[in-house]
Order: sequence, then C-alpha cells, then structure tokens
Amino acid sequence: MHRPDPAPSDAGDERAPRVAAALMTWYAAHRRDLPWRQTSDAYRVWVSEIMLQQTQVATVIPYYERFLARFPTVESLAAADLDEVLALWQGLGYYARGRNLHTAAIEIVARHGGELPRTREALLALPGIGDYTAGAILSIAFGQDEPAVDANITRVLARLLDYDRDPTTTAAKRTFRQGMAALFPPARARGHSAAAVIQAMMDLGSTICTSRAPQCKVCPLAALCLAKAHGVVEERPLRKVRAERPHRTLGLAVAGVGPNARGGRLLLVRRVPRGLLGGLWELPGCEAPSVEALPAALERDLAAHLGLTLSAAAHHGAVEHGYSHFTLTAHLYVCQIEGEPTPDGPWDQAAWLAPEELADYGLTGLTTKALASLQSQPSLWEWAADDR
Ligand code: ADE
Repeated sequence: MHRPDPAPSDAGDERAPRVAAALMTWYAAHRRDLPWRQTSDAYRVWVSEIMLQQTQVATVIPYYERFLARFPTVESLAAADLDEVLALWQGLGYYARGRNLHTAAIEIVARHGGELPRTREALLALPGIGDYTAGAILSIAFGQDEPAVDANITRVLARLLDYDRDPTTTAAKRTFRQGMAALFPPARARGHSAAAVIQAMMDLGSTICTSRAPQCKVCPLAALCLAKAHGVVEERPLRKVRAERPHRTLGLAVAGVGPNARGGRLLLVRRVPRGLLGGLWELPGCEAPSVEALPAALERDLAAHLGLTLSAAAHHGAVEHGYSHFTLTAHLYVCQIEGEPTPDGPWDQAAWLAPEELADYGLTGLTTKALASLQSQPSLWEWAADDR
C-alpha cells in the first residue's frame, strides 16, 4: 500500500521542542569527548567527517591523529604525494576517500585560497563531499543551521517518527532533513547550536539508539518515540533485503621470493588512481572463472599488462577476502618470471620492494592479508634472505 510522505509540518511536528530539550539535556551529560570536537578548524572537521564515513569512531581516532600530525593544513595535504596520503590511509578502507581528500585539498588551495568554502553548493562541487558531509562542515565548522543526516541520525529519526517506508528515497531524506531542522529553533532558544543538535543525535544513534539491541530503557527520547509507542523500534528504519554477494576467484603472482628471489624484493604494482582501490599497491593478479584456469590467466595478464613472461607458477595457499559487493578467494602463486615489468592497463607503476619498504606504500587489504599468509611460510623467505 502506498501512502504519501508526511507533510513537511509533520516531520518535526509539535514534539520538536520536547525532543530538543530532552536531547540536549542528555547530550550535556553524555557527550563523547572526541578529538575533532576540540576544534572548529574547518580542515580538521572535514578530515574527521571523511574518515568517519562508513567507519567507527574508535577506528578513526588514531588515523585522524596521525593524519593531522603529518598534514596539519590544507596546504600540506595539497602538496603531498598521493602515495604518502594512501599509506596513512592504509587499513581505514574505502580508499577513494583518501584520494578525493587529496584532490579536493589541491582544488581548495588552487580555487579557494586554501579555505574550505562556506556554501553547500561550493562544498558539494568538491570530490568526496556529499550532502551529509557538506551539512556537517557547514554546521560544525561554520556554525550554520544546516541539517546533516548520516546513518546514525537516520536511524534515530526513523524511529522517532516511526517512518515506515524506504528510508533511502529522496522523499525520505527530505523528511529526515526537515525533522532535524525542526529541532534547531527550540535548541537555539536554549542556547544550543545546530552543530550540537547534530552531534547529539549522532551520539544517541551510536551509543543508545543502535541498530541492534537499542537501549530504549535509558533513551532520553523514549517517551517521545513513535516507533517505541508502536512496538516497532527494531524494525525501523526499514531494511533492504541484502542480495547475496557474488564470489570471485583471483590469482596473485608472488614474484621475488622462493626459487627466483630477487634480493628479497617482491614485485608490487600500483593500481591506476581511479575506481575501487585506485592508487593502492598490490601483488599483480588476475581473475578467472575457476582455480584451474588461474595459471593460464596469470600468464596471459602478466604478459598483457606487465610485459612479463611467466615460466613457472607454484600454488602456495589461498586467502579469503570480502568487499561490500563481493567476496573472493585469492590463490597465491609463487612465480618465476622473466623480464622487467612495464605496467599498463589496470596498473600504472611497478616496483621491487623489500619487506621493510612496504610500510611506506598504501597496500590493499587483500595484499596485506596475502603477505601475512606468505610470511607464515618461512621456507619462502629463506630464499630471499640467502639472496640479500
Ligand atoms: N560520525 C560522523 N561525524 C561524527 C562526529 N562529528 N562525531 C561523532 N561521530 C561522527
């Protein structure tokens, strides 16, 4: 059954002053003391918001500290090498965020005099900044009454309003933005900024109004929550049924250890700086429809994209890895190759790297896993050690 979205005036509705009061009283007592809350420097707020996309606060904190120690200003980030930016991003995932941050820093220096722009439109024109991040920067760094609705806030609002339709549609997003904006005037009347309202909602969403096992007993908004009144808290927001992730089979070439050790150096290649994991370094590899087809596929791809001749490939175990849209099994082949790599197609650089040099390169998560698996096979590394 289709029902129209609630009219805009229903979104915040007459409960807004009571919601704002209860929320801000709770926030005063339970506010999380996070490093990016000790500043209103727009650059720092921006970096924190990018890192916090899809990533938990506890994971972000050490990355945020390291990143800002190394790149304290937009200018220092703009002047950096992408490899160094991605090396600092390694392990945080979703590497396009790091790449976009770097590109945007260059644009900010070139086109905005090194200052983050103060309008939604100009922020949205920068790579990596979407509606949520623009709102977060405008409210948190520049004190504007701009709503910002992330996944945590969507959950809180969907429950508060008992929003029973798809929460990802344009109409739903409008409802949530309006629901949030309706809290600003009553919060302001009590001396609280839009930034405080937004961050209070985030804290409530990540500590109490959690997706699993929400703690309604201690929630400051429980008495005002329509989903609670209707007994459907855990069913809001409505979830999409997740399609099964397809599975892929990969072969990775490990060249430089084992019988053809090259001074203990491993061949790594850099993915072209676009798309999934762009700009990160990895073991050269390829995909095939089955494990049996991998050696021939490796031979073909190493020739086609690196100009190398594969003369032997010995299977050395496999690692499993998952991405948001697919899972994979990567089979490791210790390879003997001839020639020097001339990257093309998916890769734009190649290097023979000693184990101690790997830390200076942003590696894909799969490569890190594959290297750990290889390191647990000491016989492979004895060759390398002998040869150095
Ligand atoms: N998640 C996204 N932005 C955040 C912020 N400013 N504080 C806490 N969690 C967040």
